[in-house]
Amino acid sequence: MSSLDTIVRLPGLTLKNPVLTASGTFGYGLEFARYGNLADLGGIVVKGLSLKPRQGNPMPRIAETPCGMLNAIGIQNIGVEAFLRDKLPFLPWRETAVIANLYACDAHEFGELAAVLASVEGMTALEVNVSCPNVKEGGVAFGQNPGQIRAVTEEVKRNAGSKPVIVKLSPNVTDIADAARAAVDGGADMLSCINTLMGMAVDIRTRKPRLANVYGGLSGPAIKPVALRCVHQVCRAVSVPVIGVGGIASAEDILDFILVGAHAVQVGTANFMRPDAAFRMASELPALMEKLGIDGLDDFRGSLRA
Ligand SMILES: Cc1cc2nc3c(=O)[nH]c(=O)nc-3n(C[C@H](O)[C@H](O)[C@H](O)COP(=O)(O)O)c2cc1C
Repeated sequence: MSSLDTIVRLPGLTLKNPVLTASGTFGYGLEFARYGNLADLGGIVVKGLSLKPRQGNPMPRIAETPCGMLNAIGIQNIGVEAFLRDKLPFLPWRETAVIANLYACDAHEFGELAAVLASVEGMTALEVNVSCPNVKEGGVAFGQNPGQIRAVTEEVKRNAGSKPVIVKLSPNVTDIADAARAAVDGGADMLSCINTLMGMAVDIRTRKPRLANVYGGLSGPAIKPVALRCVHQVCRAVSVPVIGVGGIASAEDILDFILVGAHAVQVGTANFMRPDAAFRMASELPALMEKLGIDGLDDFRGSLRA
C-alpha cells in the first residue's frame, strides 16, 4: 500500500478510502469476509432494511443482460431487529463505516426506522432509499416526486439524532438535479446516486418476461455513463458531498467519479462479477493515484477540464 492520501472527510464521518459497497450487492457484509478484510474498505452499506422482515418479489428476480444485470429483488431482508441482533455486532464497525440502507412505505415509517437505527452505536450513517424501482409502495414513487423526497428526508433527519443522513437518488427522473435539491432542502447531509435504471428483458422462446416482476432495475458497467452524468449534474446542483454509484468495476472507474465531483463511491454489481472486487479496488487505488501523479483525492476531486 502506498502512503498517498485516500482519506475522505464527510459530514459526521471520515472514511479511510473512498470505496464503499452498494446496498443489496454485499449482503450484510459478513458474507464477504472470506474474500478480504472488511476493515480495509472505506465502508459497508448493508442490504436495504425495513421495520419488519420482507420476503421480496417472486422468482425469477435476476436476469443477466449485456454488460449488466436486471434485478427485482423487492427489498427482501431480515428486518431491522434481526439485523441489529444477529449481524451488526459481528461487523467491524469500530474500524470501518457501517451504513444502514432504509426502506419504508411512507415518511412516518421511514422516521420510525431511522429512530431505531439512530440509537445504535455501531451504525455510522443512514442511507435513505427513495429510489427502489422494484416495490409497489414507496421506492421510486418517492424518488420521482421532489415534494416526497423532501418530506421523507425531513422525517428521517428529525429522527436520526447525530447520524449523518445520505439520500439515495433515482436516475428514473427527468431532472435529477431537482431531486437532489429537494433532498438537500429536506436536510440531507449527503447524496448517493444512482440506484438502478428501470428495464426489462424477455424470452422469445417462452414469450415470457425474464423477471416474474416483469420490470427490474438495470445495474453494472452498462449504466456507468448514466451514473457519471448524474453525479456530474448533482455535484453542480448542490454543495453537499455526493457518493457515486453505478457500474464501478475498477480503480480507474473510481477516479472517473471523483474527477466529476464525487467524494466517495459504492461498488455494486462488480461484487457479483468477483466477490473480492471492492477489496481489490480499494487496494489498487493508491498505486493508480501514484501513477497518475494524484497526491490526494481532495485536490483531484471535481478537477474535470470541461
Ligand atoms: C441485486 C441488487 C439488490 C439491490 N438492493 C438494493 C437495496 O436494497 N437498496 C438500495 O438502495 N439499492 C439496492 N440496489 C442498487 C445498488 O445499491 C446500486 O445503486 C445499483 O446496483 C447501481 O450500482 P452498480 O451498477 O454498481 O450495481 C441493488 C442492486 C442489485 C443489483
